Amino acid sequence: MERDFDTVRAVQWRDGRLVLLDQRLLPARTEYVTIDDVQATARAIRDMVVRGAPAIGVSAAYGVVLAARACYARVAEGWREALRADLEVLGAARPTAVNLAWAIARMARRAAVPGTGDPSAALLAEARAIHEEDIAANHRMGELGAALIEGPCGVLTHCNTGSLATGGYGTALGVIRSAYRAGKLSEVYADETRPWLQGARLTAWELRADGIPVRLLVDGAGAHLMAAGKVGWLIVGADRIAANGDVANKIGTYSAAIVARHHGVRVMVVAPGTTVDLATPDGASIPIEQRDPEEVLAFGGRRVAPEGVAAWNPAFDITPAALIDVLVTERGVVQAPDRARMVAVFAPSTAGV
Ligand code: MRU
Repeated sequence: MERDFDTVRAVQWRDGRLVLLDQRLLPARTEYVTIDDVQATARAIRDMVVRGAPAIGVSAAYGVVLAARACYARVAEGWREALRADLEVLGAARPTAVNLAWAIARMARRAAVPGTGDPSAALLAEARAIHEEDIAANHRMGELGAALIEGPCGVLTHCNTGSLATGGYGTALGVIRSAYRAGKLSEVYADETRPWLQGARLTAWELRADGIPVRLLVDGAGAHLMAAGKVGWLIVGADRIAANGDVANKIGTYSAAIVARHHGVRVMVVAPGTTVDLATPDGASIPIEQRDPEEVLAFGGRRVAPEGVAAWNPAFDITPAALIDVLVTERGVVQAPDRARMVAVFAPSTAGV
């Protein structure tokens, strides 16, 4: 069988529980956290045991199964009412990735289907479907994105968008997996991705686990890399894509995209339809998560900034659609995304799915 360079599964359902690979500990330790209630699911999302927009959505879907099971055990008649508060707790865990709200809304619709008895089995089937659909979408995007790359060339990626960040295979990293398999990549460069180091800790770990060579650089080295002509594509994921094609993604994506445009490096955003939010008109309307200043003031758990210094720590930024050459989704490829092209591909079905 052909290798697909994809062995990691960060989100699993085992023996009636949610099992998450604890991404805070990688690469030093490979440990799994077992979760059996919705509060712990929300905490795991907030504290980044699991992170990456699609992986957050899949985890939340399983979290709804845990919540409904507990509500039904507590109040068999009124479990749907009781579930509402749990869905709110889950939805508040992280604000930027729309996959979270999308998955909860889909699970809530399934929960609203009339029926009596324990809802767990039906909801678990729905959560599994969300998980499997995500992996299938990633494989499709991998093919579509890799087809756009005329190799061999170098590529640069930012953050972690792989199996760790999704149901499996990955978005931007899925394209990199597919292109690597097709022999189109001369070199994969990964930004370390300050401050949480998703690139240095996670992308490097995941690619190494799957035998794909990767070269790390500090985020500030991207301009020099592109000026040196070492990459043909900047390939990134997304946490939310607004109706006009503006993209929220990990902090640093915007500056990388500006530099890419300056140097004629093409910018590919890879994201499933579940990341597209036509209800958000533009990037300025996307809520940007602010995280603990300590992430900036310290490095590897050791404080590096002087005491008394403040920090500004937005976790995401907005890349305007005008800087994006191509958006790859499982529904198809959108060249030079703008409002009209987004609506043509994603309306009306995405908004309600
Ligand atoms: O803060 P994180 O690690 O959850 O941020 C993740 C990203 O920004 C990813 O690029 C995005 O979620 C896409 S993952 C397929």
